[in-house]
Order: sequence, then C-alpha cells, then structure tokens
Amino acid sequence: MNSKLLSQVSAYIGRNMGLHYPPDRYSELEARLLRMIPEKTVEDADDFFEQLIHRPFTYELRNQLATSLTVGETYFFRSVKLFEELEKILDKVILKRRKENHLHLNIWSAGCSTGEEPYSIAMTLLHLLPDILDWNISILGTDINPVSLKKAEKAMYSEWSFRNCKENLKTMHFIPRKDRWEVTQNIREMVRFRFLNLIRDPFPSLSSSIIGEDVIFCKNVMMYFDETVQNCLIDRLFNTLVEGGCLVVDPVEYSASRFSNFTSHRVKDYVFYLKQRKEIDTVKEISKSPPLKIKKTIKKPVFKTIKVSKKKAVTDLVEPVKTAEKLVLEDLLKRAKELANLGKHEEALKATEQYQKVDKATPESYYTRSMIYLALGQQENAKQELEKLMFLASDHLMGSFHLACLYKSAGKNEAVNRQWKFLKAGLKKLDSDELVPDSDGMSAERLLELVEIMSNDK
Ligand SMILES: C[S@@+](CC[C@H](N)C(=O)[O-])C[C@H]1O[C@@H](n2cnc3c(N)ncnc32)[C@H](O)[C@@H]1O
Repeated sequence: MNSKLLSQVSAYIGRNMGLHYPPDRYSELEARLLRMIPEKTVEDADDFFEQLIHRPFTYELRNQLATSLTVGETYFFRSVKLFEELEKILDKVILKRRKENHLHLNIWSAGCSTGEEPYSIAMTLLHLLPDILDWNISILGTDINPVSLKKAEKAMYSEWSFRNCKENLKTMHFIPRKDRWEVTQNIREMVRFRFLNLIRDPFPSLSSSIIGEDVIFCKNVMMYFDETVQNCLIDRLFNTLVEGGCLVVDPVEYSASRFSNFTSHRVKDYVFYLKQRKEIDTVKEISKSPPLKIKKTIKKPVFKTIKVSKKKAVTDLVEPVKTAEKLVLEDLLKRAKELANLGKHEEALKATEQYQKVDKATPESYYTRSMIYLALGQQENAKQELEKLMFLASDHLMGSFHLACLYKSAGKNEAVNRQWKFLKAGLKKLDSDELVPDSDGMSAERLLELVEIMSNDK
C-alpha cells in the first residue's frame, strides 16, 4: 500500500483511538487492519483503506478496530512486587478513611483488558480489609476492546493468566472448571466493567461516575499513544484523582518530566505518582464555611463584566439577568460537584441539601445528588433522586440514561425499554456533535452509540 494512504490511516487511528503508529510501524498497522477484511471480499486493499478513512467512527467500526489493533497482554498480579508496595499505599488511605469514618474507596483500572488487573486489586483489598462488608468499594475496569471486556465479565481464565502468581492464589480466589479457573463470586461482585475510550470519552465525569478516584491503574496502556496524547491523558487522570490519590503506571512508563504535576513517591524500585497539590484554593470546605443565609428579598440584578467590542450592539452584550440569590445557589451546586470530585461525598451531599432548603424546584440539584449517590455506590438513593428529577424535567436525557442503567441492573425490563425508547428519540433530535447537557462533554452521537450498545445487550 502507498505510504501516503497509510499515513492517513495512521492519523485516523490516532485521532479516534489514540493508538500511535509511526512510519516504522506502518507494515504492522497494515497487517493488523487487513485481518478485518473477510476473505476474498475486497479486491484491492487500497480501496478498503480509502473507504476506512472516510467512514464515520461508528461503534461497529470501533469494535472491529479495537479488536484488531489493541494488545491485551495481561495476567494476575502483573508486577507482583509493585502490588506488594501498593499495599502500603492503600494501607495509609484505609487508615485515613477509618479516622474520618468515611469507609469508601474508588479504584479505576483504565485499560483493564481481560480483567486480571481489577480482579487482582479486589483480591488485594479483600486481604487488607477484614471488615470489608462495612466498606463501600468501587472497582471499575474499563477498556476499548469489547471482546476483552466480555471475557473480563465471564471471569474464566486459563493457566496462562497465572504465569506470575503464587500457587495459593488459585485455591483462595478461584473455582476449578475443567481446564479453566473461575473467579469466586465475592471477588466478581467487587468489580464492574465498562467500555471507555480513554481518548474520546469524557472524564473526570460525575455522570459516568469516573471521578474522585483514590487509585487509578493505567498500566501498559500509555505506551501505545503518542506523546501529545499521553500528556493530555496524564492531565485528565490527575484531575480524576482525589487529593492525595495515586496513579499507578508500569515501571517502563516512569518519566519525571511527563508526570511533573504529580509528586513522585518512590518505594524500593517502584514509583507511584501522587496527586498532592500545594493548596486547594478553589474549594472552601463546606463544613467550615458559615451557614448559608440568603435574603429572599434580594432582587438586584447582577451583570457579568463583559469586554465591549465597539462594533457590537449593546443589546447583544447583556447576559441573562441573574439575581444574587441565584448566583449563590449556582455556586453551591458548583461547590457540591467540586467536593464530589475531591472524594468528599458526604460534604457534597450537604451542599445540595443546603441548596434544596432554598430551592426544591431546580432539576439540576436532584441530578447532582443522584450522581453523588452513584459515586458512593448507593443505587437505591440514586434511583430515588433520578425519579424526582424526571418528575420535574421529563426530557432530561442524562437522567433518563442513568435511570435506564439502574432499572437494567434491577431487572426492570419494561421500565428500561421505555427509557431507551425515550432516549433514542430525544438524542436523534440533537445534532450528532451537539453536547448532551449535564454529560460532562459527551456528544449526542456518542451517547446514542452507548444506548444502542446497551439496549442490544440483553
Ligand atoms: C497491554 S493491555 C494492559 C492491561 C493491564 N492494564 C496490564 O497492565 O496488565 C493494554 C490495554 O489498553 C487498551 N487500550 C488501548 N487503547 C485504548 C483506548 N484508547 N481507550 C481505552 N483502552 C485502550 C487495550 O484494549 C488493552 O486492553
């Protein structure tokens, strides 16, 4: 194939999936992509590639590309020593949470492949927490490869997945099944899996519950991206961690310059990247701030200062009038989201309670509360808030999406189908690249794609 076409294919893959194929890997890219062509259906490979770069990046195409191009190499307790050192870091977080009496932990395995990594994390936590039943633990595994995710959900592994672990691991956490090993139910219940494209999907995001993470594993994933994509990803991972949270990468990915936002914490031969900002200036602790007093009588309009261009008519320049009361309330909701992002869920809930003492009619406060409950793993509370939201704003697309997911996990099929139908109709009314309100940056096309996947996934 001509190298100009290959460079266009490589750019298309980089743009949509982040995967980096420089010229010296063009032949590998070509060989991998050619596997996607069913035998003898295409006369000319160039035609196939020409069509590919002009195709919209639909979820079918993405699934095919992810299956052909990603490398899913993984196994249980990959880097045993690193896991041992990680235990010490987790011990400290656990101690802190016990002192605060906030028994929750959020852990995200980004690029989890077939699931060995998030299950290894669950096994580690089970060992560290004798009172695990009192804890609210969320371990989320995400990947771009749908075939890997299916395998992760099945939780059935061959000997090859145990190539680096102690023999007693199998007896502790697996049930033998012919020539395979199935992860025990208690460990399976600790881990959820979900599709997520690290390059295109939004995070941190309340709406996807990828927010306020205590630990993020992003091991052996970044190496497949180019430097610009890596830097952008590292920034977003930083923003997704709670203050004091920890990013775990593989030793081959260590880099002082690339992780300069983080404080590097060296334990023996391993480096853990900690989010330790000098000071948090944007968020005042809600518990320490004086109780909110809002005079209901304030009616004075407040205008935002806008730089005036002489050419513009003055009428274009005035933003919608907002009362001081409204601005204070908006600030409170904003603060609730920031607190949730810092992992301070209880305080975030308090902020929304204060908000609702003054205003019970604004849908956004119910949506924010539902997202906080989801982050806490309190699904029933989240569902109640979403139902209140839909009562007030029956056209709220993200509300409907989350409600559908909750109904789905509760097996309420009729209610789920109603929500999917409503959502598909609502999303088709938007332009494909229009951002869905309250979705933290998800386009209508992307959400529709997710809805299609989930509604077909019985
Ligand atoms: C080598 S595996 C790493 C598995 C595990 N983290 C480990 O260290 O053992 C790399 C994974 O990254 C995933 N990946 C590649 N590009 C991705 C993207 N844009 N978004 C999400 N996952 C991606 C691949 O599908 C693959 O499963």
